[in-house]
Amino acid sequence: MLVNKNYVKRHTKGFVYLHWINAICFFMLFLTALPLYADTFRFLYDMFGPATLQNAHRFFAVIFVLNPIVGLITAREGIGRMFSEVFKFNGKDITFLVKFPVELIGVHPKDMPKQGFYNGGERMNIAFQIAAWAVLVISGAVLWFGEGVVDSSIRAWMIPLHSFCAAIAFAGAIGHIYLATVVNPDSFHGMQDGTVKAEYANAHHGEWIDDMVREGKIDQKELNEALKS
Ligand code: HEM
Repeated sequence: MLVNKNYVKRHTKGFVYLHWINAICFFMLFLTALPLYADTFRFLYDMFGPATLQNAHRFFAVIFVLNPIVGLITAREGIGRMFSEVFKFNGKDITFLVKFPVELIGVHPKDMPKQGFYNGGERMNIAFQIAAWAVLVISGAVLWFGEGVVDSSIRAWMIPLHSFCAAIAFAGAIGHIYLATVVNPDSFHGMQDGTVKAEYANAHHGEWIDDMVREGKIDQKELNEALKS
């Protein structure tokens, strides 16, 4: 059934919270470490003091680690779907990725194959962010607790690894935010109350909508009405 005759339920509330807590932690971790890399951000040390920033970095690191663990209870369905989707790469995703770049400048690609719950680009983002999370957490834990436990030559490698991973995850997050807010602002609604417009869902995730109709979760007539309005 559609919500308010025009919206499709896409994400649970638990998954929406998981996403935003992860996003806030990620940016706070980035911000609290910035003065270590660029003098332009030294003003943060002057404002808060290095010890406060270091404690804040550790505080957000703990939430960054605990958030998906709590999510295994509160957002089980969304996490399960992300993991199952990551391993579903197929020929359609390749076609999607070849045709997709013009959408970055606002042109809707022609003959795009129907996409499932997550499209080829989102699958790549999911795989990348899960891997980045794991590397950041492991390298961060070695830096935090590793003194006297882990060989110092290994610990020395963790600093560039942690920094490199944070940098590419940040670049990925900027691309992700651009896509979600500028290219497909309708998708953003899904990260507000968990629903997206039927028209958007049908145009961008047609295979998922077809499945929902086939499984009787959406009524075809109701969908046609929503697509007309
Ligand atoms: C702060 C700005 C952000 C905005 C506006 C934003 C927006 C969104 C939206 C709209 C979706 C749902 C896409 C869909 O339903 O198909 C989503 C999903 C997701 N977001 Fe974000 N997000 C932000 C930050 C982040 C950050 C910082 C990360 C990771 C570090 C992240 C990781 C993800 C992942 C893994 C998904 C699921 C798959 C995907 O759509 O790629 N997001 N986000």
